[in-house]
Amino acid sequence: MTTQKVRKAVFPVAGLGTRLLPATKSMPKEMLTLVDRPLIQHVVEEAKEAGIEQFIFVTSSGKTMIEEHFDRQHHLIHTLERRGKNDLLEIVLGSEIPTGHLHTTRQHTPLGLGHAVWCAKELIGNEPFAVILPDEMVLSKPGCLKQLMNVYNEKGGNVLAMMNVPKEKVSRYGILDIDPLEGRLAKINAMVEKPEPEDAPSTYSITGRYILQPEIFEILENLEGGANGEIQLTDGMAELLKEQSFYGCLFQGKRYDCGNKFGFIEANLAFSLARDDMHDEVYAMLKSFVKTDVLLS
Ligand code: G1P
Repeated sequence: MTTQKVRKAVFPVAGLGTRLLPATKSMPKEMLTLVDRPLIQHVVEEAKEAGIEQFIFVTSSGKTMIEEHFDRQHHLIHTLERRGKNDLLEIVLGSEIPTGHLHTTRQHTPLGLGHAVWCAKELIGNEPFAVILPDEMVLSKPGCLKQLMNVYNEKGGNVLAMMNVPKEKVSRYGILDIDPLEGRLAKINAMVEKPEPEDAPSTYSITGRYILQPEIFEILENLEGGANGEIQLTDGMAELLKEQSFYGCLFQGKRYDCGNKFGFIEANLAFSLARDDMHDEVYAMLKSFVKTDVLLS
């Protein structure tokens, strides 16, 4: 199947991050450190791996630090060059988004995820695009978006990352009604945002990685508020589902919710344990904690 290449990704970064206060009082939550780099850099790297060339941030007041992070820091670079710190220089240069590839658009009012994505309409134009929610980290090889891209290249249409969640937690997510799984793939028949467990069509939830067709914008533009009174991306996709195919990909890897304190701690442990250069030290550290606990009990 010939599909139009996905070149652009939208990163909704306008949220307040209230679940992580006071850390997020003046610091954008997307700039909080996961192991040794901000959350947003992790997802930009995931997008680069998947072949994304244009990075679109939907920002809001107080979020300029995010753009700064991907900019060229001339003073820092000259200092590192002068000191011969080539390893650090490589890390700093590797964290840039090249000139002309970073774009921002503002969401003035927090009207919901569907509205945030709609804010990127003019920057996307008439081509398929990816959406990545930066407070959801997926530890996997290849990255989660690359896995979706492989599905998209084969099937076209729209592709969502999905995972199975406990029934009592379905009301936190967009939930999918799917055909029987074929391997890790399933055709999506319907979807609903944050249903009560008794109304949920399954326990397969939408994870924060999407490949969408541009027809979604017209739908989002005319959408009424849904769950929590917000303009929901899931409601827009449910509408588009009447005209276009949607596939769910049960991605390989584990997802961490870095939008709350416990998920954040867990992600820091998991991501550092997954690093060859950090595993042994972090593992020993964890073991010593457990030991102390045993001694205390
Ligand atoms: C958003 C989406 C939801 C999805 C979830 C994944 O919800 O609306 O469909 O399942 O992300 O985390 P939010 O977490 O913004 O409430």
